[in-house]
Amino acid sequence: MRKKVSIIGAGQVGTIAALQTLAAKLADVVLIDLMDGLAKGKTLDLQQAAALMQSDCAITGGNDYDLTTGSDVVVITAGIPRQPGMSRADLLATNARIVKSVMAEIITRSPEAILLMVTNPLDAICAIAQKASGFPAQRVIGMGGVLDGARMQSFIAQELGVSVKDVQACVIGVHGEQMLPLPRFSTVAGVPLTELLSPDKIQRIVERTVNGGAEIVAHLKTGSAFLAPGTSVAEMLKGILLDEKRIMPAAVCLQGEYGLRDIYLGVPVRIGSQGIEEIIQLRLDADELAQLQAGAQAISQMLAQFAME
Ligand code: NAI
Ligand code: 2OP
Repeated sequence: MRKKVSIIGAGQVGTIAALQTLAAKLADVVLIDLMDGLAKGKTLDLQQAAALMQSDCAITGGNDYDLTTGSDVVVITAGIPRQPGMSRADLLATNARIVKSVMAEIITRSPEAILLMVTNPLDAICAIAQKASGFPAQRVIGMGGVLDGARMQSFIAQELGVSVKDVQACVIGVHGEQMLPLPRFSTVAGVPLTELLSPDKIQRIVERTVNGGAEIVAHLKTGSAFLAPGTSVAEMLKGILLDEKRIMPAAVCLQGEYGLRDIYLGVPVRIGSQGIEEIIQLRLDADELAQLQAGAQAISQMLAQFAME
């Protein structure tokens, strides 16, 4: 029997995530949105795209959460995206309310599901979803680092004029302005980036990665990136549903790793059918560790301020 993935939020990211899931023939897909017609219309469109892609995976959709019953993975993209001038943090109050209401619908219908969170501000939203769902932290995972890593990977490949296939980029920390691209752990055919590019060029790549989402928002004027984000979701789904044991960055609840406890933050993990199977500890230098911990503190402060409001 095929696996079942429900995607909550039939907006920009949810639609591409659904398309890529069908294209890769990973699972039957359910697409849910507050706006019934939006989900139903996109479901039909996706069904017809699936026929062209020779995919027999089923897609259903609408605003009825009963369709999601028994999902293996639930992807949460419901929420508002940022507009020019907004940071991801500006979205917290609205999106926390939306995500809590979605959790209430999901937990009884799919109690064993893995929750793959996308809604921003990602790391804080993961913490809120884990608390609201009561699911073990191993099954509440955030997508951020895969996207940030893909951005850095593409910038490195462009700069060096090499295939993206030979580039591995490592970005950890907050999915936000305080993210931490790690040139020492980013490689081209196994050679660290620090041996291939000057510090100035590396710094430019780091800055462009950190601003990668904002750069797109500024061009689009309305809404934020969705093609690479939706594709990143499918990449993580592949790791989970095919039990690939891939090492990829994900927002996870740290339990002492990197000197941090009970805080969601992006770090490399081994991902498989059980969700997070291992948290990988990179040997960060003092400066890298300090930056990671500063990001964690910013998330804690954001959550503490939110709890007081
Ligand atoms: P969008 O506005 O295109 O789609 C969001 C959808 O959620 C809308 O169709 C809306 O009707 C729906 N929705 C709102 N409240 C709902 C509810 N209570 N139940 C069900 N559906 C509901 O936005 P887009 O571009 O798809 O982005 C979605 C979220 O993902 C945003 O918060 C955005 O910031 C975030 N995002 C996160 C990324 C990451 O790397 N983690 C990357 C890209 C976007
Ligand atoms: C991005 O990085 C907005 O989080 C979204 O594009």
